[in-house]
Amino acid sequence: MPKRKLLLVVALIAAVAAGPVAAQDLVQKGEYVFHAAGCAGCHTDVATKGPRLAGGRALKTPFGIFYSPNITKDPTHGIGGWSDADFLKAVKGGVDKTGRHLFPAFPYPSYTGMTDDDAKAIKAYIFSLPAVPKPNRPHDVSPPFGWRIAAWGWQLLFFSGPAAPPVPAGASEEVKRGHYLATALGHCGECHTQRNMLGVLDLSRHLGGNTAGPGGRVPNITPDKTGIAAMSEDDLMTLLDSGMTPDGDVVGGEMTEVVQETTSKLTPADRKALIAYLRVVTPVHFEKKK
Ligand code: HEC
Ligand code: HEC
Repeated sequence: MPKRKLLLVVALIAAVAAGPVAAQDLVQKGEYVFHAAGCAGCHTDVATKGPRLAGGRALKTPFGIFYSPNITKDPTHGIGGWSDADFLKAVKGGVDKTGRHLFPAFPYPSYTGMTDDDAKAIKAYIFSLPAVPKPNRPHDVSPPFGWRIAAWGWQLLFFSGPAAPPVPAGASEEVKRGHYLATALGHCGECHTQRNMLGVLDLSRHLGGNTAGPGGRVPNITPDKTGIAAMSEDDLMTLLDSGMTPDGDVVGGEMTEVVQETTSKLTPADRKALIAYLRVVTPVHFEKKK
C-alpha cells in the first residue's frame, strides 16, 4: 500500500477507535464528579432500600418534606429524554426541562459554580446506569412555600450566583481546587452554613456551623477554636476518608453519608485540597452546644 494511503487508513482506524474510548473516559470522569458532588444520597431512597437514583427520598426542611425525583434515564419517570442543555439548565440554573422552577432543596445554588464539562460528564455517567421506571412522589410542603411560584420568587430574589464566597485572593492552585470541591461540587455549605428564615445561606458565616441543619445542629468547620482549628491534617484526612474522629468515635448523622458517598471517594490529593481550603476560610465563632 502506498504510504499516504496507509496513513489514511491508520488515521481512520484511530478516529473510529477514539469514539467509544472517549465516551468511556467521559463516563469514568462523570462517575468521579458524580461522587464528588454527592448526587446519589438525595436521589436514592436509602431508608426503604429503594433503587439507586430513582428518587423518593424524604428531605425534611423547615418548610415541609421534599421528595427527590427520579433521575435515572427512564424516559417517562426519569430524565431519559433530556439533552445536555436541559440537564445543565436544571443542575446549574434550577429550571427543569418543562420550565418548572426548582426548589433550592436541590442544591443548584451550589452546583451553579460547576463547570459545564463536569456537569455533562455527570450526565454521561447517569445515562450509563440502568433506567428505573419509578414514578415521582409529590412534595409535602404547605403553601405558600410549596407552590412552584414560590421557587420562582425565591430564585428571582436570592439566586444570582454561587452560594459561596469567591476563591480567596492569592489562593494557591491547591486551595482553588479545594474551593471548587467544597463549594461547587461537595456543597458543604448547604449543611454547614447557617440559613435565614427564607432558606438563604448566610455567606458571612460560610461553613461556620448551622443550628438548623438536616438532622439538627451541624458543626463549624472553619479554622476557629469553636471549629476545626485543633484538628491536625492527619485528623481531617482520616475523618474525611473513613469517618473516624480524633477521639476514636465516628462521625454521625448526615455526615456518615457524605463520607461514604463523597469524601472517601476523592483522590488523596483532592481530599488534601479540600482541607487546604477549609484552613483558609474566614474563621467563624459558633457557640458550642449548651
Ligand atoms: C440535598 C439533596 C439533593 C442533592 C445533593 C441533589 N439533588 Fe437533585 N434534586 C433534589 C430535589 C429535592 C429535587 C426536586 C426539586 C423540585 O421539585 O423543585 C431535585 C431535582 C433534580 C433534577 C430535576 C429533575 C426533574 O424531573 O425536574 C435533576 C436533573 C437533579 N436533581 C439532578 C441532580 C444531580 C445531577 C445531582 C448531583 C450533581 C443532584 N441532583 C443532587 C435534591 C437533591
Ligand atoms: C448533608 C449535610 C452535610 C453535608 C453536605 C456536609 N456535612 Fe459535614 N457534617 C454534617 C453533620 C451533621 C456533621 C456532624 C456529624 C456528627 O455529629 O457526628 C458533620 C461533620 C463534619 C466534620 C467534623 C467536624 C467536627 O467538629 O467533628 C467535618 C470535618 C465535616 N463535616 C466536613 C465536611 C465537608 C468538607 C463537607 C463537604 C465536602 C461536608 N462536611 C458536607 C453534615 C454535612
